[in-house]
Amino acid sequence: SSSPDPKVDPFVLTSEELKTMSQEMMDLLSSSHPVLSSCAGYFFTKESGKKVRPTMVLLTSYALNPHSTPPSSNPSLPMQETSHGGLLETQRRLAEITEMIHTASLFHDDVIDKSTTRRSLPSVNHQFGNKLAILAGDFLLARASVSLSRLRNLEVTEVMSTVIEHLVKGEVMQMRVLKKGNFEYYLKKNFYKTSSLMANSCMSAAILAGVEGRKIEGSYNYGKYLGNAFQLIDDVLDFNGSQDLLGKPLLSDLNSGVTTAPVLYAAEEYPEMYEIIERKYGAEGDIDKALEIINNSAGIQKTIDLAKTHAEVAVKSLNVMEDSVYKEAMGNLAVRIIEREN
Ligand code: FPP
Ligand code: MG
Ligand code: MG
Repeated sequence: SSSPDPKVDPFVLTSEELKTMSQEMMDLLSSSHPVLSSCAGYFFTKESGKKVRPTMVLLTSYALNPHSTPPSSNPSLPMQETSHGGLLETQRRLAEITEMIHTASLFHDDVIDKSTTRRSLPSVNHQFGNKLAILAGDFLLARASVSLSRLRNLEVTEVMSTVIEHLVKGEVMQMRVLKKGNFEYYLKKNFYKTSSLMANSCMSAAILAGVEGRKIEGSYNYGKYLGNAFQLIDDVLDFNGSQDLLGKPLLSDLNSGVTTAPVLYAAEEYPEMYEIIERKYGAEGDIDKALEIINNSAGIQKTIDLAKTHAEVAVKSLNVMEDSVYKEAMGNLAVRIIEREN
């Protein structure tokens, strides 16, 4: 199931668009500030990152845009206009904006988390220093805002601006020490930190497609629940992933005092974990103790099961859309997000 039929492979279907996207983002970032451009463009120069978010935006767009006549039945139409359901220029821009907002948040995140690697490269803060990493993130965000305003769609501008507020809110929520009974709080934090960008960018793709309300809502829910699943798997991979495949260090959550689902589930079975959580894993031997408890518990498996449940809800929200290879690819992406190793 990890290598689907290329006709419904989400990354095969979007690969051409994604390739041009990196170049267009570089162009958007070129400015009178060579230092900022080079920091901000650092991630867009080569094939880097999974580009999950732009892939979601592109597939939602393809799935909802009025389907064009297949070239065989109307040979007079040029190939580009008939391929991929006639992607709108605004939707292509939206995919870029989404990746730029995400990347800006990662620049800031790596400063906050004192991370030294990202996407298997030295992180921007490590390469250029904290000050430039923050400024490059701000610069990316500014350029994303300009590009957003150029879509000339007030609703999309409002929705995507709210995402930026949510990213900050999620990051601040993450600073709180979790207690017994805080599982709902943790899920809400995940929504702000991860799912909101996915939900609102898929919804924006639907708004730009000009489709009816229930399809807009379906697109939002697809992004939201897939985002929830994505973050739950992220939190699992921080424990049991491969550092090489992830391109970033393992156990970063425990090391920065952040409590995630595997720990919360483990604490339900072994309440002594709550004291370790309270200390933010800061006392001698806390990390090893926490890992031992997690390994003896069903924490990891329960987190994976919860991620699967959310991914299923994501796929169910596609029911409002007409069947197409793109819709199938969106379902396939949900499977890939659960099974992913990076
Ligand atoms: C990665 O989480 C971080 C985020 C998903 C959001 C970070 C948001 C901010 C720093 C707020 C500022 C926002 C903007 C738009 C400038 P992680 O640290 O759990 O994941 P990682 O292991 O990939 O570092
Ligand atoms: Mg981080
Ligand atoms: Mg972080």
